[in-house]
Formats: sequence, C-alpha cells, structure tokens
Amino acid sequence: MALLQGRSVRLVATGMAVPERVMDNDELARIVDTSNEWIVERTGIRERRIASKDENASDLAIAACRQAIDRSGVDVDSIDMVVVATNSPDTLFPSVAARVQGAIGASKAGAFDVQSGCTGSVYSLSVASSGIASGLWNRVLVCGVEVLSRLIDWEDRTTCVLFGDGAGAVMLEAGEKEDPGVMVCDMKSDGTKWDYITLPGGLSSLPASRDTLAEKKHFVSMKGNDVFKFTQRVLPGYLKDVCSDAGMSPSDIDRWIFHQANRRIMEGVLKRLGVSEDRAINNLERYGNTSAASVFLALNEAYEGGSITCNSGQKVLITSFGAGMTYGAFIYEA
Ligand code: ACO
Repeated sequence: MALLQGRSVRLVATGMAVPERVMDNDELARIVDTSNEWIVERTGIRERRIASKDENASDLAIAACRQAIDRSGVDVDSIDMVVVATNSPDTLFPSVAARVQGAIGASKAGAFDVQSGCTGSVYSLSVASSGIASGLWNRVLVCGVEVLSRLIDWEDRTTCVLFGDGAGAVMLEAGEKEDPGVMVCDMKSDGTKWDYITLPGGLSSLPASRDTLAEKKHFVSMKGNDVFKFTQRVLPGYLKDVCSDAGMSPSDIDRWIFHQANRRIMEGVLKRLGVSEDRAINNLERYGNTSAASVFLALNEAYEGGSITCNSGQKVLITSFGAGMTYGAFIYEA
C-alpha cells in the first residue's frame, strides 16, 4: 500500500545550488561527434552545469541545504535527520549526508545517503516522510546531489551529452492533522534489469586496477534504448495505479515532476496517461539529467516560478526511474 499513514508530513521549503560553469551542446560537439540538433531532438537538453575541479557533491549539497534551511527559518538543532540521495558522492564513505550534517551544524541529527540510481530522489523523500509520519522524526532535511561529470566517459557520445551536475534540497516536517501534505510514497524495483545502467569498476566485484582503468570501467555505462523502452512500458500503468491508490486519476494531478532525463520519455508517458504536457514541470533543457538531484531542481524552480504555491491545495506527483532498475512515485498536496 503506497498511501502514507500516520502523522501529516509538510514540505516547508526548497533550495538548490548548481555550478557556475555552463556547457552548451555546441561545446560538446567540439569534444565528441554530435550536434546541437541531435541532442535537442533526441533528448530536449540544450545545456548543463559542470562542477569545477575543487567542487564536490558535498559542496553543492551544503549550499542547497543552506538555502532550504534559510527559507524554512528553522533552527538547525531541530533537524532530526539529514538524508542525501546521490550516485556520485565525494567518497563511498563517509556519506555526503554526514558532511552536510557537520557543515550546517545540525548537532542533534543523524545522517545517511541513499544510493538508488536516479530514483534516489523519490526513495529519499519517501524514507524521510515515513520517518516523520511514524513519529520517529519531526524534521528532516532531504537533498539530491550529483557530480556525475566526474563519472562520465567524455569520449562516449551516448552518455556524455546527457548528464549534468547540481543539488536540490527540501525541508520536511510534521504537520497538524488538517494540514495538506504527503499522500503517497511508493518505491519499486525490477532488479532483473540491473545491467541497464551500471558503473562496474572500483568496488568489491571489480576493484580498481590498471585493467579497470584501461577498460574504462569507472564510468557510467548505459543501455539507453532499453532504459527508454522500460519507461514507456512500465511507467504509464504504474502511475495510473499509484494515483488510484490515493483515490485519484491522473487528471486530478495538477503538477507532474518527472525525473528530468529525456523530454521524449516524459511526453510519451503523459500521452499514454492522457495528461496535457502543460501540467509538467520541465527544466531539463538547462540542466540535463542530474540523476538523483533532478526532481529537486525542478521542484525548487517550480516554487520560485510560481507554478506550485504553498497552501494552494495543488496535487503534485514526483516520479523517477533509474539504475536498478528502480522507479517510484511521491504525491503530496502543496
Ligand atoms: N550524437 C549523435 N548521434 C548519436 C549520439 C550523439 N550524442 N548518441 C548516439 N548517437 C547515434 C547512435 O550511434 C545511433 O546511430 P546508428 O543509428 O548509426 O547506430 C543513433 O544515434 C540512434 O541511437 P539510439 O541509441 O537509438 O538513440 P535514441 O533515440 O534511443 O536516443 C538516448 C538515445 C538519448 C540515450 C535515449 O535512448 C534515452 O534517453 N534513453 C534513456 C536514458 C535515461 O533516461 N537514463 C536515465 C537514467 S540514468 C541513471 O540512472 C544514472
């Protein structure tokens, strides 16, 4: 059952941080055999942000979290948990979350990372909301961050044109019973498709060696076509079922926030659901695929741009898919 039970969970503030450096498609076309036309037509991406040499995931995460904290006006000592979704942490351990928790001075909080491909976004929001709904925590800072530019083979045109760097954050807290809030948290996986998106080298199954370096095993490898087909086969029926669990139909959702991976994926799913594209938030063309950070960036810009407003009663559905293959959905009332 995907319906969140227990205490009400409110989204009180968002934040984001992206590197200053912008890389547009024309610049990429000077690095690999591609073109602005191909990238725009096949993906919808026009430019992405790339972290500078000394900018790590934790730096972006800390900046995004600080913005969410400032906007929420909460005392950092009242934060019970810091949860960070990432696939490109500074180090495997310690977690990025621990670095954030230390840097912001949330002295009473715990901290952990969620690593679940791009769906880490929905998973982290869901785990945080469940912890609040159950009464375990009152206030949780959730962040999605990626510096995937370091894990990309810049000679592979099938992947390097897709990804970008950035971080987004959300402050969640317990609300009053009558408050609007989180309605659905759903997390799914089809691990039989584990080989669709991988980063095989550098850990226990393939420790770093001269061979793993020579064979480029430390970079993202993706069966892009299979991922694309997976989304069109699985997501429409799945999202219909998730809405139905909450007593709604897709037409009841006011704002759709898809994992910003490919404009054609989002258009295909919305078409199959019979939902108009103007209900979808889309900032993919400016940031590319920022993996576990993407829905956080879109959510933050939706609030900043006024397409989602607090206490509006708007129903917002956030959905993602990624390595695993994992997928999930999160619905809340703004
Ligand atoms: N520039 C120019 N041509 C290219 C490029 C490029 N950057 N990349 C591939 N091509 C060529 C291919 O070589 C192929 O040429 P061929 O027909 O001569 O063999 C042709 O373009 C078509 O390639 P396809 O792979 O079939 O292109 P497609 O339309 O499927 O688009 C893409 C590829 C954009 C990767 C698409 O499949 C996609 O978006 N898939 C989903 C990826 C995704 O969403 N991943 C999210 C999860 S990421 C995570 O979890 C970390």
